[in-house]
Amino acid sequence: MPTARRASLLRLDPLLGSPAPSSSSPRAVAPSVDALDRHVAIEIPRVFSEAERAALVAGVRAARDEWTADFGGEQFSLGRAFYTHLEQGRSRLYFADAAASDDRVERHLPGLQRRMRELVAALTGGLAQPRRGFCGPGVHIFPAGEKVAREGGVVHFDTEGLSDYHLTRRRRAITVVVMLELPDADGGLKLWDVLYDGRGDPGDAVLPAPSLVAGYSPGGALVIDSYRMHQIQPFPGGRDRISATVHAAEIDSGRWETWF
Ligand SMILES: [Fe+2]
Repeated sequence: MPTARRASLLRLDPLLGSPAPSSSSPRAVAPSVDALDRHVAIEIPRVFSEAERAALVAGVRAARDEWTADFGGEQFSLGRAFYTHLEQGRSRLYFADAAASDDRVERHLPGLQRRMRELVAALTGGLAQPRRGFCGPGVHIFPAGEKVAREGGVVHFDTEGLSDYHLTRRRRAITVVVMLELPDADGGLKLWDVLYDGRGDPGDAVLPAPSLVAGYSPGGALVIDSYRMHQIQPFPGGRDRISATVHAAEIDSGRWETWF
């Protein structure tokens, strides 16, 4: 049963600024992802330093010719995102291109995929491994003035990539988004006190439920339960919204698989 109590945000100090040296030797931090039982999101400022963030944005822009266009150019990605391909009937392309997708991300944003997996490892205190056959962490670009900027994103859960086995047992799953370039204003993430109940489309009846809009900071992360209803908020101005995303599902106790 949803409760208003959960509509709160937990802000971590930048404990994760020096992530574990590799995903095979994770470093547990407290409070961990367990806090998502009590908060709608965990905010982690300064996952990337300003210099790292700026370099990543420059890398994304330099890779313009290799972005993937989704939904007719409403949004783009560097690296292929599972949900966009599923919704466009292009899942075969997603899997066929997974290795090349990882190559593109690594070539233009060296170390980003590793850093995102390290973040998952640090948050969970577990192992964070690439999900076999899937594309690794990548970047979403929501252009200024385009549909998401004008209207906001679709209200949804991040359950598309979860197996039926995982979904029916409500095994743990998280989404980690690091903001690389903030729009001029707004563009936060609205989070409701509503969790996935087996229906992929939440419908309008739950929209009045308690919610909050979590803001991003440049180079900072928001971590959410993938089963939580959420929506990218509209944003004004002439600057694109660029963010890095990793999805993670706990396959066995302490072992998480990651993808984009
Ligand atoms: Fe999402």
